[in-house]
Amino acid sequence: MTMSEAPERRRTPGLSWYDLVLEDERPVPEHLRERRHYTATAQQVPVERYTSRAWHELERAHLWRKVWQMACREEHLPEVGSYVVYDIAGDSYLVARTRDGSIKAYINACLHRGRALKDADGRCSEFRCSFHGFTWKLDGTLRYLPAQGEFPDIEADRDAWRLPEAKVGTWGGFVFINPDPAAEPFEDFLGDMPEHFRLWDFENRYVQAHVAKKIRCNWKVAQEAFDEGLHLVGTHPQSAPYVGDSNSAVDVYGNYSRQISPSGTPSDDLPVDPTERDIMARMLDVREGEELPIPFSQRTTARDSMAAAARERWREVLGDAADEVSDGEFVDHWNYAIFPNLHPWGAYNRIVYRFRPNGDRHDECIFEVMFVTPFSGERPPPAPVRRLDLDDSWTLATELQTLALVMEQDTFNMTSVQRGLQTTRRTHLLTSNFQEGLVSWRHDLLTDWVERTANKAAGGGTGT
Ligand code: FES
Ligand SMILES: [Fe+2]
Repeated sequence: MTMSEAPERRRTPGLSWYDLVLEDERPVPEHLRERRHYTATAQQVPVERYTSRAWHELERAHLWRKVWQMACREEHLPEVGSYVVYDIAGDSYLVARTRDGSIKAYINACLHRGRALKDADGRCSEFRCSFHGFTWKLDGTLRYLPAQGEFPDIEADRDAWRLPEAKVGTWGGFVFINPDPAAEPFEDFLGDMPEHFRLWDFENRYVQAHVAKKIRCNWKVAQEAFDEGLHLVGTHPQSAPYVGDSNSAVDVYGNYSRQISPSGTPSDDLPVDPTERDIMARMLDVREGEELPIPFSQRTTARDSMAAAARERWREVLGDAADEVSDGEFVDHWNYAIFPNLHPWGAYNRIVYRFRPNGDRHDECIFEVMFVTPFSGERPPPAPVRRLDLDDSWTLATELQTLALVMEQDTFNMTSVQRGLQTTRRTHLLTSNFQEGLVSWRHDLLTDWVERTANKAAGGGTGT
């Protein structure tokens, strides 16, 4: 994989986001508009990565048991003894706040005869197994066992019967875990990503809405629906007048990447050019003949007007710092992705996505949408999770407002993509060389994490 400095000829013609934001009244700062183009190793993705049980088992062993992954938010562990059960691909972890305030993650299994220590999130003073009562302190040391004289192995070395741990790292108010004792430090894994997010201050945000929906597709099918703007006109035609999908920025930085779609500017694929007032009306969902709810002068653009209105809205939380924020940060769709499965939207959009297999299934996933929102004053409690089953509609999640319709449109494709993948006679999918760069990037990383390691292990090499 290589980065290229002169990729313009590879993308659809038209003004790109990197140039568009220079025309804003307040341009996006230089470090946030640096081009980091990605040349994929291959523009073909093996179909078996979505359909094969064997590939899923490899992901479980070489990806999910090895990689840094978001388990919860710090706010989900507000007090000593608060814990979250984090399930991933058949494995389960207990993420808990200990007495010294630190966060620890344990394999969620009793060391006696294996019962899961906890079945659901909660709060406790110690981890007591419901089967025979073995008990561990919050710091993982063994506190109590019944019929002591009957367990000489434990009596010989109590310390060996601590709860096994996964590593823990935090960033932006998110708690990440890594089950691999030999994992690279979390900071190295993230690289300079925190620098991008520094001013957006994800620590001081709270989970305002949290919806988890089961979908009949592989977790990557769901995730890849949010990796590119190429599907905008086909899937979300209502947004085409105000989202410049083909002008998107696509950048890759090691373990994280981003795709930024400009807003307040139309898609190049529209057959007619909408007026600036039309663009505003579509963005704000204003019907024919109705007044625009925000000030708009014919001398300005829709983009300028939307940025000015957003700046005033955010002033309540950001104070005068709102004047330092660029227009692009207020209006554009900054979709960041952290390998393998987290999408924290950047800037002042509050959307966060996470994608996981549903239990240990390779053909179903859980797709979560959160609104992670700034607040002023006291931190509000995080929203409880609204769980939507396989056949539930996103429109039940009224807390997602207009995003629920967008999710419904995206999900409509997902189960059909999975069905198509299971019947196609082709062995590989195609990805475009610019707009679908994030799909290719993740598959290149999966090749490194899963395929190469599995091949090494099969060949008797040192890979684990
Ligand atoms: S299985 Fe947990 S105490 Fe026996
Ligand atoms: Fe979409």
